[in-house]
Amino acid sequence: MSASFAITAPLPAAASFADWSAAGLHTVERALEAWVPADAPAGLGAAMRYAVLDGGKRLRPLLVLAAAQAVGGAHAAALRAAVAVELIHAYSLVHDDMPCMDNDLLRRGKPTVHVQFGEAQALLAGDAMQALAFEILTPDDEPALPPALQARLVQLLARASGQQGMAGGQAIDLASVGKALDEATLRDMHRRKTGALLQASVLMGAACGATQAGAWDALSEYGAALGLAFQVVDDILDVTQASEVLGKTAGKDQDANKPTYVTMLGLDAARQYANDLHSQALSALTRAGLTAPLLVSLADRLVIRQS
Ligand code: IPE
Ligand code: IPE
Ligand code: MG
Ligand code: MG
Ligand code: MG
Repeated sequence: MSASFAITAPLPAAASFADWSAAGLHTVERALEAWVPADAPAGLGAAMRYAVLDGGKRLRPLLVLAAAQAVGGAHAAALRAAVAVELIHAYSLVHDDMPCMDNDLLRRGKPTVHVQFGEAQALLAGDAMQALAFEILTPDDEPALPPALQARLVQLLARASGQQGMAGGQAIDLASVGKALDEATLRDMHRRKTGALLQASVLMGAACGATQAGAWDALSEYGAALGLAFQVVDDILDVTQASEVLGKTAGKDQDANKPTYVTMLGLDAARQYANDLHSQALSALTRAGLTAPLLVSLADRLVIRQS
């Protein structure tokens, strides 16, 4: 990992959400650029960097940074958490796109990693990105990340990535092709495969500050509702949006005969459900008396989106 990237100051208290998110995206991009090694052996570095640099909306890193800012968390710790979450997410996309899973050719507006570098290199790039995420959370000498915080962040990310979360949800997804799932099973699949990592993003940000129990529970509920809403919207966009706008192949769910919120509820009711979850996320913050305008704007950004 390059040592040349120095974390300087927290994000400025910007005048608008647009300014704040532009500054956040820039910082995350610079950190990824510095921490994802170009010199990993035998072309692995090129595949890892291709998978994670120059693309993606970076919504999970922004959630980490916003949650940390809401609880006065240390910026250096939050930035590491933000990069770690994005690495896990980007790795999950590399594997999700492989022929043995969704067999996709387009991701983030570019040919998928296995198309560009071959299947074995794509598999290994995903593996190495997953390991790198945990390496970034466990630095040797970073005063903002004492051992107890390192362990907490690792725990939150590992739980959201493994069988309880993303990997488990992906297993249900593949086992469900051609099946009409009941609502509880579909919800469980979506919560795991997508919701868990989004919720973990919020909680990892919260872990970077001295978050009281009430605020923690509210942020957890906010993250859970928003995480589920995010995959409902992903299902909707798959049938309503063009590949050029999405940067990935539209219409894939129907082609692959996947059960989704659109197949279960229809488009209008799926949209209504995403809106209900959005309201649920915001009312969790309000009930706890949490004033977090960045988290409110991010909820809008996650649910009211075109790509
Ligand atoms: C796509 O996630 C895959 C899902 C988990 C639904 P994003 O829509 O956040 O993809 P990027 O990161 O912007 O490419
Ligand atoms: C993927 O869900 C969720 C992941 C864990 C990567 P999808 O298969 O619906 O994601 P897209 O539509 O390919 O981005
Ligand atoms: Mg998939
Ligand atoms: Mg897919
Ligand atoms: Mg999808």
